[in-house]
Amino acid sequence: MKIAFFDSKPYDISSFIQYKDENLEFKFYETRLNIDTVALAAGSDAICIFVNDTCNAEIIDRLVQYGIKLIVLRCAGYNNVDINYCYKKIRVMHVPAYSPYAVSEHAMALLLTSVRRIHKAYNRVRDFNFSLNDLTGFDLHNKTIGVIGTGKIGKCFIEICRGFGMNIIAYDPFPNGEYNYVSLENLFENSDIISLHCPLTDDTFHLINTHSIDKMKKGVIIINTSRGALIDSNALLDGIKSRKIGAACLDVYEEEADIFYHDNSNHILNDDTLARLISMPNVIITSHQAYLTREALDNIAQTTIKNIYAFKNGEFSENELCYHCPKIEYCKGKRDKKCF
Ligand code: NAI
Repeated sequence: MKIAFFDSKPYDISSFIQYKDENLEFKFYETRLNIDTVALAAGSDAICIFVNDTCNAEIIDRLVQYGIKLIVLRCAGYNNVDINYCYKKIRVMHVPAYSPYAVSEHAMALLLTSVRRIHKAYNRVRDFNFSLNDLTGFDLHNKTIGVIGTGKIGKCFIEICRGFGMNIIAYDPFPNGEYNYVSLENLFENSDIISLHCPLTDDTFHLINTHSIDKMKKGVIIINTSRGALIDSNALLDGIKSRKIGAACLDVYEEEADIFYHDNSNHILNDDTLARLISMPNVIITSHQAYLTREALDNIAQTTIKNIYAFKNGEFSENELCYHCPKIEYCKGKRDKKCF
């Protein structure tokens, strides 16, 4: 099988190449999948894509024209693929879990960096400035953290927070653990820190907006390692400027697609909201790297190859996305291919 990889970076190539065998041919393209680049897929049997590749109806039609039969996502989230449109045209598989530890540990790393001003201290000491002025943080112990989404990553994050002696409240429309579940409103009102671990859907788009920020405690810290569009970035910026939001720790940004994963250091950043956020002393941004550990990359490559082989051998795959059910867990529970 010939597989065209889009948006592939050196670390993707080295993690996948070790699983290549005589049945598989890989073509790695650095460019992202979009209507201008989709022609690169011609001649392949499958494409392998990542979070910022575009896979809408127009692109799916072109893929079908080129004879592509399979889309393998080397990530968990699939909000960038028009799954319903793929039905009976092209099969889609993803990697449901590769390391919830990687993402949840990164969320805590961002939080600790922010709360203990490590980003400031690191730069100061490199300049032989050993002053402690303005570096005062606060204890996480006994603080209330509101976790939105208690799936694989949310659960791991809760375990980490428990280790810090934090008081945990949670919101999830599909409660799935022994947690102190509260309403979203209650969570907004009572959390010192809020961490987002839910998928991006029509329901969660701009979950953090002017209205929800109004309900939050003054000085609240917001962590987002899920998807950028869960937060209305301009509302976040306003909340920071008005001192309502104490700090933001972001691994994702709603307009990240054309910016993240690229070295833009020699370019003028056209996104004024992002530039302003980056300029804030209490905003820490990483470039969608929460998943980036050796273990996660290896799991992603292994599962993706397994998915490709399941397709090649005509076997049923647990990792095939449902083209109808809105929540994958429901479908998996009763999965007998009726949905397909
Ligand atoms: P999961 O599917 O195991 O858990 C998601 C949870 O969110 C489920 O419990 C679900 O019931 C809940 N949920 C659904 N709708 C909700 C709503 N309206 N409000 C609150 N909760 C809701 O997914 P997992 O593996 O925990 O991943 C969570 C998110 O993390 C993914 O959707 C993805 O966007 C993001 N992610 C980010 C990565 C990064 O590198 N920054 C890497 C991997 C995932």
